[in-house]
Amino acid sequence: MTDRRGTLLALEAPAKLNLSLAVLGRRADGYHELAGVMVLLELADRLTLRPGDEGLTIDGGSDVELPPDRDANLAWRGLRAAFGDAELEARLTLEKSIPVAAGLGGGSSDGAAAWRLGRRWVAAPPAEAGEIAGLAGRLGADVPFFAAAVPSAYVSGRGERVEPLAAATARPHVVLVDAGFRLPTADVFAALRPAEWSRQEPPRDAAVAGANDLLPAARRLRPELDDLAAAIRTAGGEPHLTGSGPTFFCLTDDAERAADLVARLAAAGVRATPTRLRTQAATIRSIAGEREHDAEEEP
Ligand code: C5P
Repeated sequence: MTDRRGTLLALEAPAKLNLSLAVLGRRADGYHELAGVMVLLELADRLTLRPGDEGLTIDGGSDVELPPDRDANLAWRGLRAAFGDAELEARLTLEKSIPVAAGLGGGSSDGAAAWRLGRRWVAAPPAEAGEIAGLAGRLGADVPFFAAAVPSAYVSGRGERVEPLAAATARPHVVLVDAGFRLPTADVFAALRPAEWSRQEPPRDAAVAGANDLLPAARRLRPELDDLAAAIRTAGGEPHLTGSGPTFFCLTDDAERAADLVARLAAAGVRATPTRLRTQAATIRSIAGEREHDAEEEP
């Protein structure tokens, strides 16, 4: 293994949006056959891996509640998947910024980022497509998209087929509308009815925000989503649901419009935050020796 004394690796774990999400059927493994466009956001968690005793430190806002069991944490599981049987003399720190169970893929992104950090730590060769696809089963359906480290992609199957797309540039400003509650993905899929599945695949285009077949199921579970969508329209936005929700997003072409929409929503009592689409995936930074203290506070 590479000598890592004094070296720290850092990587952002971006949130995602589903610009479109079509459910095409049910698979033999119980999962659903999906197809749609996924894009990365500037909003991100931050992970660091440093030499030390094996462990996981989670640092987040007061509203971040994650399972206390380390082995249930996707970041930890991603790191372990990369290390395999190798001894893990490293401490992973996870700084949460992405809301949990919001449809923004935070846990999956943490898992993929930790997996990328772990592979770099053990000096693994670049991952093959098959290894990335295998993460859908090992860590979760959204993980291959994040592990592929591309800003936008057409994702299909259970989530394991990732075809990179040209990054969208038309409407790069995003307003995320916080529903104020969580919605577990499994609950939304369980509430989905076959009549709500799509008959055809969505366009392979990262410039279009299309339909989300999970919206009717999410609305059935949480009817207050209709009031939220109405409030967004009244404030001048066009609401789209990301993933299984409950976060809605609006795309706009400039920062001023995004800020105006956030302000109008705030005036209506709705919490919204501006962010942007990414044009590039996050890259691993290696921080050596004396710079470590500038960049990091020891927990
Ligand atoms: O793979 P992951 O654990 O993220 O999926 C969470 C839940 O979402 C699954 O338990 C399943 O109920 C549902 N799901 C599905 N089909 C997919 C992805 C997720 O039914 N392609």
